[in-house]
Amino acid sequence: MDDKSEFQSIFTRCIARKGADKLMAWLEQGDFFTAPASTRYHLAEDGGLCRHSIHVYKRLDALVKSEGLEVSEESVALCGLLHDLCKAGFYKKEMRNMKINGSWQERPYFSIEDQFPYGHGEKSVFLIERFVRLTTEEAIAIRWHMGGYDEAVKGGSMAINQAYNLYPLAVCLHIADIQATYLDENKPKTQDPAQKG
Ligand SMILES: [Fe+2]
Ligand SMILES: [Fe+2]
Repeated sequence: MDDKSEFQSIFTRCIARKGADKLMAWLEQGDFFTAPASTRYHLAEDGGLCRHSIHVYKRLDALVKSEGLEVSEESVALCGLLHDLCKAGFYKKEMRNMKINGSWQERPYFSIEDQFPYGHGEKSVFLIERFVRLTTEEAIAIRWHMGGYDEAVKGGSMAINQAYNLYPLAVCLHIADIQATYLDENKPKTQDPAQKG
């Protein structure tokens, strides 16, 4: 099964909330299923955002179970699959010539061109809420999923502490995002030939 089909099958199996069909139609209209997950870090490739969202969903599902949290399948799917909705309509793709193994080859190059600069986690919440009502717990988890990387936290906001104190789902979503990014998607570095056996 390809990533888009897997995303859609988890989405339709777990999310029955009013407006979910309209949200899926909106995802299909835009670049959600073709966008990368980053410009040059994790999954900087076509479809990377969709694949990352599936990884986070699976990590979150496992964490919620291992922590024994009473969180519905629907909440896990909404938070895992949609936490980075802010990255739809966010990247621009160009083809550039790059020197690879001594020869010039055309490769995709991604840069940021945010069509709706509304933030990160808060933007995902806003976009989801255009179609589907989130619970307070889901909204807070998605809002603060970046943990210490969040711009407001970096600027000195302490609100994340109370969010994490009150909502274990928010803690788990941040951990799931880190696990997906650094354990599932971290490409091994090219080995230095000088260090070979
Ligand atoms: Fe994110
Ligand atoms: Fe993410």
